[in-house]
Amino acid sequence: MAIKIDHLTPYIGSEIKCDVDSLLSGSEAEAIRAVLEERGVVFFRGLEINDEQQVAIARTLGNIVESEGKDGIYKISLDKGVNQRAEYLKGSLFWHFDGSLQPRPNYAAMLRAIKLSAVGGQTEFCNTYAAFDDLPEAEKREISTLRAIHSAERSQYYVTPEMSYEEVKFWQQSPSKSCPLVWTHQSGRKSLLVGATADYVEGLSVEASRALLARLRDWATQPKYVYRHEWQVGDLLIWNNTGTMHRALPYPEDGGRLMHRTILAGEEELH
Ligand code: OGA
Ligand code: MN
Repeated sequence: MAIKIDHLTPYIGSEIKCDVDSLLSGSEAEAIRAVLEERGVVFFRGLEINDEQQVAIARTLGNIVESEGKDGIYKISLDKGVNQRAEYLKGSLFWHFDGSLQPRPNYAAMLRAIKLSAVGGQTEFCNTYAAFDDLPEAEKREISTLRAIHSAERSQYYVTPEMSYEEVKFWQQSPSKSCPLVWTHQSGRKSLLVGATADYVEGLSVEASRALLARLRDWATQPKYVYRHEWQVGDLLIWNNTGTMHRALPYPEDGGRLMHRTILAGEEELH
């Protein structure tokens, strides 16, 4: 076998050792997708690849989203000089999954560390399959039919708690979306679906809704379900966006931290 896999915690996060040529050829793509399904997050260290190779590797794993960034690469930075949407990206400091407002949330995303922050800037991931599986049966039943409304506006309150009327109206231009609290995947597996865009649970009182969303987030992000990635320059990390949540730990906006991201398009409808 051309790949070697080391599991880093019981539930989530594996390092894969593989040579660049094998990654580019796609010969291990099926195996890597299987690890992503099981482990949520995989990373490769010391590959010394460039942007083109990053995108080429991504293409062996799925369909890349071409519309973002240039030639398949989108720059993740909180510096407005590097990314005009830096204000929006500050939402990445709070537990979330990507593309919650899309009909098909992204299958996966790939980050390659170009420049690190001197302090902070690690990325944490939690396994929302494992978190669901471990819920008490009564609780699984209780939430099985509940749905939450997700919105871009909601996640912006984490970034700007006292938004102006104009800001609120701006974020409200993105249509909100109703998602189940439990995502039943094509595979039959189930994962918990909360995160920073989850605004309220349909049919519950304001208090009950806030309490439930906070409780499920607390549950899913318990240390035993979390892997924290301590970046080294050149690391290539991939997360399965349909079975995890993630967040960056705070880092200075002007400290130069830069990641090159490639997104793998959603493959499963979420409704
Ligand atoms: C993202 C994201 C986290 C990070 O790219 O979707 O949330 O650590 N990034 O930069
Ligand atoms: Mn994200």
